[in-house]
Amino acid sequence: MNELNVQFEKIRQSQTVAMGDRIMALKAAGRAIVGLQMGDPDFATPPAVLDAAFKAMQDGFTHYAPSRGTLELRRAASAKLQRDNSVSYDPETELLITHGGIHAYYLAMQSVVNPGDEVLVPDPSWATHSNMAIMLRGNVVRVPAPAENGFIPYFESWEKALTSKTRVIVLNYPCNPTGAYLTREYLQKLQDFAAAHNLWIVSDEVYENLYYGEKPTSVAAIEGAQERTLLVHSFSKTFAMTGWRVGYLAAPARVIENALKAGQNSITCVAPFVQKAAAFALTDPDVRQTSETMRLAYARRRELVLRISHELESDKVLVTPPMGAFYFFLDMRLLKMTSVEICERILEEVGVGLVPGSAFGAQGEGFLRMTIAASDEDVEEGFRRIMAWAENLKI
Ligand SMILES: Cc1ncc(COP(=O)(O)O)c(C=O)c1O
Repeated sequence: MNELNVQFEKIRQSQTVAMGDRIMALKAAGRAIVGLQMGDPDFATPPAVLDAAFKAMQDGFTHYAPSRGTLELRRAASAKLQRDNSVSYDPETELLITHGGIHAYYLAMQSVVNPGDEVLVPDPSWATHSNMAIMLRGNVVRVPAPAENGFIPYFESWEKALTSKTRVIVLNYPCNPTGAYLTREYLQKLQDFAAAHNLWIVSDEVYENLYYGEKPTSVAAIEGAQERTLLVHSFSKTFAMTGWRVGYLAAPARVIENALKAGQNSITCVAPFVQKAAAFALTDPDVRQTSETMRLAYARRRELVLRISHELESDKVLVTPPMGAFYFFLDMRLLKMTSVEICERILEEVGVGLVPGSAFGAQGEGFLRMTIAASDEDVEEGFRRIMAWAENLKI
């Protein structure tokens, strides 16, 4: 038989997607399932963004666009980075429009990872962060981010993971699945560490607008960090635009030159009417206000879960308030079952879709990811079912 690319033997199918497929099948069979597994906003894309896309289509923006992305959107992204993150990126040379945040991450990693390079990825972390490095023949080294330290790596863990082959640090704060993010002081220390060892920092900031306390700092805004940082951004979560597939990479010009070659030779360009709509979303004050309204809705649901958790006072499901993103990482370690087992049983017995924490790494074992990117009713119903299920367990 012809040989396949062996790298794929090291990668599992996405457990979030697999869970979504199972839920669809159960729903089709008539089960009343509450799906709290997907990281996809339940809000509609703001109607004015749809109008901008329709108009662009009617105006003929239906042909190839520049592989770098339209200058209009790169300028809008540059202005946003300046306005919201206090970082300056030249729209001509330091920005590239991508097919969503996942593609920005792909191009970032393609641009800097050589086969055999070691890539430091916190554990737990979104599976793609590791999978992509593996696909590119990098070696992933997981850096524990234990619950006991607020899902943030102890600083010594970075030092311990370092070898002469380390090339990249991957960050994702606010974090999927834990909602944790790093303080400015921590980021400064990490930048000093990266500078001392000549490392790239690939920072996935797709949840930057979803926070419930102080606004998170972009690592690129830390003194000295920008020259080694590759920023991954997306419209998916901030503007409820997951299906539009648009995001951007901000990085030093020589990185963007590589990313441009990778993009050109894989997708050619992002659809121009999508880029028109994205530029509109970044610049229109009403759309930005709608995005803020969504953030406040997530904050309200977060409070709802915390209120129910205080009301029920379970010692079997420990609930830590997430600082950002739109997930709770429920601690069910006391049940002494694997996350997969708990997830399966909750789905079968009380009809709630979740993602096993182990899908995000060994540190996630015993945890379950529950999204609040679902209606208030579903969040409340789903969470109450989970709590009742755990309470009724004999352990
Ligand atoms: C941490 C993280 N990064 C990137 C993405 C990808 O988002 P996009 O839809 O922009 O590709 C996701 C999606 O769930 C995510 O959780």
